[in-house]
Amino acid sequence: MARRRPSFHLCCVFCALLSGILWLLLAQGFLTSASAQDKPEPDKPAAAGDEEPDPPKDSKRYQYRRDHDRDGTGKFYMGREIAQVMSFHGAPWLERPEREEEERLSGLVKLLKIKPGMTIADVGAGSGVITVMMAHEVGADGKVLAIDIQKEMLELLGDKLSRLGVKNIELVLGTEKSPKLEPETVDLALMVDVYHEFKFPFEMMEELAKSLKPGGRIAFVEYRREDPNVPIKLVHKMSEVQVKKEIQQPEFGLKWKETLRDLPRQHVIVFEKPVTAK
Ligand SMILES: C[S@@+](CC[C@H](N)C(=O)[O-])C[C@H]1O[C@@H](n2cnc3c(N)ncnc32)[C@H](O)[C@@H]1O
Repeated sequence: MARRRPSFHLCCVFCALLSGILWLLLAQGFLTSASAQDKPEPDKPAAAGDEEPDPPKDSKRYQYRRDHDRDGTGKFYMGREIAQVMSFHGAPWLERPEREEEERLSGLVKLLKIKPGMTIADVGAGSGVITVMMAHEVGADGKVLAIDIQKEMLELLGDKLSRLGVKNIELVLGTEKSPKLEPETVDLALMVDVYHEFKFPFEMMEELAKSLKPGGRIAFVEYRREDPNVPIKLVHKMSEVQVKKEIQQPEFGLKWKETLRDLPRQHVIVFEKPVTAK
C-alpha cells in the first residue's frame, strides 16, 4: 500500500488548525456581530467578569453576570443589560453628515414642541449636535443645560459654542449618579441615545424627576429594539415596554404622556410630572 507523503500530513494538520481558529472566532461572535452597526466602541471594553463590583447596598437593585453581551457592562437593571458608555473618541460619529438622513434630528426637535423661554436639560449631550438645535428654539429668554459625565465631550461642545457665538447653553459636568440639576427648574429633560448607558439609572431618574417643574416633561429617544432592521447593537436599543417599566416606577411620580413613532430609527417616549405632584 502506498504511503502518504509528509507534506500531505502537514497539510491536514494545517487545515485542522485553521478550522479550529475559525470555529473559535465564530463562537466569540467576532465574525457575526462586528458589522452589526457602526456605533463606535468604548475606549476600554470591559471584559466579562472584570467589572468593579458596586457597594453591596446596590446589589438588590442591580445584578452582575459574567455571561453577558460583549457590548454590555455585565450589570443588569430590571432585566436589561446596561450598555457601555460611548467614548468621546466617538464624537465624529455623532457629528456625521448622514445623521440627519438616518435619524432626522430636525424632525425630532419639531416633535418636542419647544417654546421660547423654556429651560431644557440635554442629559448626555455629547458634542452637542441636538443641544445647539434646541438652543435656537428656546431663544435668548430660554436656556439649554448641556450635561455630560465626560469633560472631553463638554470641551468639544464649548469650542463649538465659541465658534458659533451661542450664548444660551450652560455646560454641566454631571456624575454617574447625578445630573447636578436644581429641583423644579426644568421644563423638558431630553435624552437622545443616552438612558441605556446610565450606570445608575435608578439614581439618575430620582434626580431627574425632582428637577422637573410640575407639568414638565422628560423624553427618551432610543433606537427601537422591537425593530430588527434598526442597525444598532442590541444593548444600545430599548423597547417601549422596557422604558415604560423602568420609568413608571412609583418612586419617580411620572406619568406616560405619549410615544412618537415618526422617526426612521428611534421612538420618542415622553413622560410628564403631574402638576399636583410634590
Ligand atoms: C451616544 S452619546 C449621545 C450624545 C448626544 N445625546 C447625541 O445624540 O448626539 C451618549 C452620551 O451620554 C453620556 N452619558 C452616559 N452616562 C451619563 C450620565 N450618567 N450622565 C450624563 N451623561 C451621560 C456619555 O458620556 C455620552 O456623551
